[in-house]
Amino acid sequence: MKKPIRVAVTGAAGQIGYALLPRIASGEMLGKDQEVILQLVEIPPVMDALRGVAMELDDCAFPLLREMILSEDPRHGFEGADLVLLVGAKPRGKGQQRGDLIRDNGPIFVGQGRAIAEVADAGVRVAVVGNPANTNALIAMANAGGLPRERFTAMTRLDQNRAAAQLAGRAGVEVSAVTNVAIWGNHSATQYPDFENARIGGRPATEVIGDREWLEGDFLGTVQKRGAAIIEARGQSSAMSAASALVDHVRDWMAGTPTPEGDWVSMAVPSDGSYGIEEGLISSFPVRTDGQGGYEIVQGLDLSTFARERVDASVQELEEERSVVEDLLGSGSAT
Ligand code: NAD
Ligand code: LMR
Repeated sequence: MKKPIRVAVTGAAGQIGYALLPRIASGEMLGKDQEVILQLVEIPPVMDALRGVAMELDDCAFPLLREMILSEDPRHGFEGADLVLLVGAKPRGKGQQRGDLIRDNGPIFVGQGRAIAEVADAGVRVAVVGNPANTNALIAMANAGGLPRERFTAMTRLDQNRAAAQLAGRAGVEVSAVTNVAIWGNHSATQYPDFENARIGGRPATEVIGDREWLEGDFLGTVQKRGAAIIEARGQSSAMSAASALVDHVRDWMAGTPTPEGDWVSMAVPSDGSYGIEEGLISSFPVRTDGQGGYEIVQGLDLSTFARERVDASVQELEEERSVVEDLLGSGSAT
């Protein structure tokens, strides 16, 4: 048996936490031969509920769950963590945009970024889910002096999965036939789900679907606004699908399942200036993961004028979000 992996999860008693924790503890995220130690972080009023979640995890009798640590202090909860999943944050309600949460949720990521740099394992990897995810990841990164910035990611895999499901449905194929789906920009209604570079059964999705109007209209709008549609229908934001996307994000990044040759996955990562996206912004890109905690941004993809305008608009929104949290970016950035 390998050394157990320490996985810290914030917001562990929330909706996503409830759908996520059994999947980590059962080995779906990090491997069926990989023991895990769950380090669960919540805010003080929710610690009783968290103890209830921990009781249920005990009752699942997962053979790979070595230990659980419950804490209301990230400095304790992140100690020695190999992986930190920053889920804990307020969700939006009906009629709100994710960006409306920025001044409520942003400050959470200042202290958590510092705590990661101070007490997590030196090899720590971080995935941010709490919204607005890209900018929250930027805040955490900007406060995590001493760590390499590429360790900080935000989740856009849910958007990728949504786009793949829509394309598969329209083409009448299994979702596994859809590859090369890139999400560009922000996890928001301005994101650009790139149908021009997507493939279905190895052929361009545009050719297989043959309906540009649908791709530019219904497809784009459905993916961009899917989160809001779920809130409208369920009264609560997505949780099962968000947890599942996070399992995909981490598994491909860290658990020995590199991106298949010729394909890519979508992750929001610090820009290195690729595709003219300002260096340092956390933007979604197509990336290739190595399954060992590394990734690289896929280079050389064509972006049409249609695509370029949409990517630029989403990046502009990221710049605007950054300007709203300028005061939270100050204490020593990951480099
Ligand atoms: P939820 O309200 O059910 O749970 C959030 C939990 O976080 C609560 O238990 C709360 O007590 C806890 N929390 C709040 N502040 C905290 C802090 N400082 N430290 C630790 N825990 C804290 O919400 P949810 O449905 O689980 O969603 C969580 C976040 O994820 C929201 O911001 C939501 O918008 C976002 N989200 C993102 C994606 C994505 O694709 N990136 C998808 C779905 C949801
Ligand atoms: C989603 O995409 O489902 C989440 O970001 C939740 C939301 O507010 O839409």
